[in-house]
Amino acid sequence: MNFLKYLSFGTLSCLFTLIFFGGYVSASGVGLSCPDWPLCPAGLVPMGEFLIEYMHRTLAATTGLLVILTMFFTLKSKSSRRGMKLAAVIAGGLVLSQIALGGAVIVERLHSLLVTIHFAIGMTLFSMLILVTVYAFQLPSPAARKEITSTLGKT
Ligand code: HEM
Repeated sequence: MNFLKYLSFGTLSCLFTLIFFGGYVSASGVGLSCPDWPLCPAGLVPMGEFLIEYMHRTLAATTGLLVILTMFFTLKSKSSRRGMKLAAVIAGGLVLSQIALGGAVIVERLHSLLVTIHFAIGMTLFSMLILVTVYAFQLPSPAARKEITSTLGKT
């Protein structure tokens, strides 16, 4: 099985969980339970009174790293198509903007326009990662690639 299939699907799953937590942060009104940026009041220590927001930020950092790794390996892969590379680069740009915007949402005390843009970027990022994952599942396996190369070599 191709490594990019695992990586992109894992990244998509992490992003889904992050969006789930984001929705919960918003709906339960705990968006400012961590009033500081980038860390919560107890630094890296999670605490009951801001656990949901802490999880949202921790998942955002993990997702950010995974999206950048997915972009890196997609660009490095010889068999990935142009559409996959483009979607991975857009996802990389969006995830960085989204994390910075998350900071602005806190600094601006949940300004409604910023929260709406934060939601819209989250959805666009999710769409881009679905594209990357679908492309990744269409990539030939290493064994199939080897067979194609050897067949081409014989002709
Ligand atoms: C890839 C990164 C991120 C994604 C995909 C993401 C996604 C989301 C989503 C989908 C929501 C729900 C919005 C709504 O229901 O209107 C949300 C809420 C929120 N996010 Fe993020 N987020 C990310 C990073 C961050 C970061 C780094 C922060 C920084 C503190 C942050 C702060 C917030 C806050 C405070 C809310 C709640 C807003 C409210 O109370 O209405 N997010 N996020």
